Amino acid sequence: TWTTEVFVEESIREIRAKVGDKRVLLALSGGVDSSTLAFLLHRAIGDRLTCMFIDQGFMRKGEPERLMQIFNEQFHIPVEYVNARDRFLAQLQGITDPEEKRRRIGHEFIKVFEEESQRLGPFDYLAQGTLYPDVIESADSNVDPKTGERIAVKIKSHHNVGGLPKNLRFKLIEPLRKLFKDEVRNVARAIGLPEEIVRRHPFPGPGLAIRIIGEVTAERLNILRDADYIVRDEISKHDMYHDFWQAFAVLLPIRSVGVMGDKRTYAHPVVLRLITSEDGMTADWARVPYDLLETISNRIVNEVKGVNRVVYDITSKPPGTIEWE
Ligand code: XMP
Repeated sequence: TWTTEVFVEESIREIRAKVGDKRVLLALSGGVDSSTLAFLLHRAIGDRLTCMFIDQGFMRKGEPERLMQIFNEQFHIPVEYVNARDRFLAQLQGITDPEEKRRRIGHEFIKVFEEESQRLGPFDYLAQGTLYPDVIESADSNVDPKTGERIAVKIKSHHNVGGLPKNLRFKLIEPLRKLFKDEVRNVARAIGLPEEIVRRHPFPGPGLAIRIIGEVTAERLNILRDADYIVRDEISKHDMYHDFWQAFAVLLPIRSVGVMGDKRTYAHPVVLRLITSEDGMTADWARVPYDLLETISNRIVNEVKGVNRVVYDITSKPPGTIEWE
C-alpha cells in the first residue's frame, strides 16, 4: 500500500538514480511545494543541489529573513539569497494596470533567474514543484522527442508569462508530479518541514505588488507590509490563523479625512480581506468577531503612519475575487 514514507524512500532512490553526479538548480519561493522539493532533493543528493531564493521585495514582513533562517540555520540546507528588490521596484515605476504589473514582474523574474543560474551554474537539471494537476495541464513543458524527458520551457513561479530562453531549457526533475496538494503536505511533514511552512496561507507570486492598488512604491510597500503584519499578528494571537484560507490587507490609493488627537488627517484606507475557502475557486468573507476587527483597526490606524481608516471587505467570490487586482 502507498504510504508517505514509501513515497519518500522511492523518490530519494529515483532522484539519486536520475541525477547521478550531475547538478540540480531549484528556485525556492517559500511555499510548501518548492520547500518540500528542496528538503527531498537535499536529502537525496546533498550539495549537488543548489537552491536560490529571488527576493523580489514583495513578500510579507520578515518572511525572506525567516525563510533563510529556516533553511540555512535550522536545517542546514544552503540557499543562495538574491536581493533583487530594487530591480523589481524599478520595473513597476509608474505602472498601475494589474496585468501589466504581473507581466513586468514575471519578465524580471526570468531575467534574474537567467543571470543567477549562469552565475551559479552550469546545471544539468531544474527541479520544479510540479503537482499532478499541473502535469495534466502540462502547458509549461515540452517533451524531448529522443529521450522522452520533459524539458522546462517555463518556470513554475506563478508568473504565468514569459518562456525560458533557449539556453536555459534545462531537463526537468519533478518528484512531486504524481501528488495532489494534500499529499504534498503529508510528504512535507514526513520529511520534517516546519508546520509554519506546511500550513502557510497561499501567497500570490507577485505578492504585495498586487495588493497595492495603483503604483507600487517603496513607501507604499512599507505601509502595506506593516498593516499586513498586524493582521497576521492579531489573528495568530486570537488563535485564528488556521480558520482562514487567506487573511491580508490591501492598500488603496485614495485618501480620506480623519482626526487624530486634535489634528485633521488625510491619509489612505486599508482594506481587510479575511476569507474562508476550500480551494480558492470560491470563497466566503469570514464572519469574524467584532473585537478582532476592532483590535486590528485600532492597531493599524495607531501604528501605521499613512493609514487613517480601515474597512472590511464583505464580498464573497464570486462575484468578487480574493485579491483586489
Ligand atoms: P483570485 O483573486 O483570482 O485568487 O480570486 C484566487 C487565488 O489565486 C491567488 N492569486 C495568485 N497567485 N499569482 C499567484 O501565484 C497571481 O498572479 C495570483 N493572483 C491571485 C490568490 O491569492 C488566491 O489564493
